[in-house]
Amino acid sequence: MRRLEGKTAVVTGAGRGLGAAVSRLFAREGAAVVLADVNLADVRDLAEEITAAGGAAAAVRADVTSEPEVESMVNIAVDRYGRVDILVNNAGIAGNGSVVELTEAGWDRVMAVNLKGVYLCSRNVIPHMTRAGGGSIVCVSSIAGVVGQKGQAAYHASKHGVIGLVRCMALDHAEAGIRVNAVCPGAVDTPLLAGLTEPQMDALRAMHPMGRIARPEEVARAVLYLAGGESSFVTGSAFLIDGGYTAM
Ligand SMILES: NC(=O)c1ccc[n+]([C@@H]2O[C@H](COP(=O)([O-])OP(=O)(O)OC[C@H]3O[C@@H](n4cnc5c(N)ncnc54)[C@H](O)[C@@H]3O)[C@@H](O)[C@H]2O)c1
Repeated sequence: MRRLEGKTAVVTGAGRGLGAAVSRLFAREGAAVVLADVNLADVRDLAEEITAAGGAAAAVRADVTSEPEVESMVNIAVDRYGRVDILVNNAGIAGNGSVVELTEAGWDRVMAVNLKGVYLCSRNVIPHMTRAGGGSIVCVSSIAGVVGQKGQAAYHASKHGVIGLVRCMALDHAEAGIRVNAVCPGAVDTPLLAGLTEPQMDALRAMHPMGRIARPEEVARAVLYLAGGESSFVTGSAFLIDGGYTAM
């Protein structure tokens, strides 16, 4: 028996990187996956790949910072598959700088995608989950949600905010049977890190006691655990997958 057989999942930022790895794994585990991203071409390609492999997937263009687009994303999921059992709030962007260096627009953009996006997607999915008797929401925070780092004020503030929001949503919706959890990965080998030079990548690897960064599939397996029934008594948690980064 596959672990997500009969379930419908919405994954934001599904076009590449961690979101694509989560979507592929969910489809292999039997879920119908609604692949949402600002980049429609990427999610269309992934939907074709998943369908060709025998899975079920639909590609949707949705910017998580826009409530009308988020609402339409959820409506497409419900119209097409009848329900939303799982939401993975994965879409996120980087943003460098101290508070002095960050422009107000830069701060607002990071907060809009990384934190407000989680609020908007959750807000639109939770009423459907409540009516259906439950569901599972997994939010992609980061070690940036647990510790600080120089020159990363907005990104770390947004990821700390995600963990706070996860805890509050877990409390608010526990009685409705909705579990809400966060994953906190260390650095993951995705296009998000594409701008880093090889010496910067070496430094990043060295910051993790395991001497390397994560493969997207390693994080996707933790998202699967939190999304599915194996974590039936887990809610409000922030699950570290960081190669020991925060153990130091
Ligand atoms: N890569 C890392 O080292 C790392 C570490 C910890 C946490 N994370 C988090 O993991 C998540 C996924 O990151 P990734 O590394 O796969 O990044 P990525 O840049 O490879 O992929 C992000 C995806 O999100 C999409 N996206 C961006 N803005 C969006 C918006 N407004 N609405 C909808 N989709 C949007 C992009 O088009 C892209 O497909 C992010 O929340 C990120 O903060 C990443």
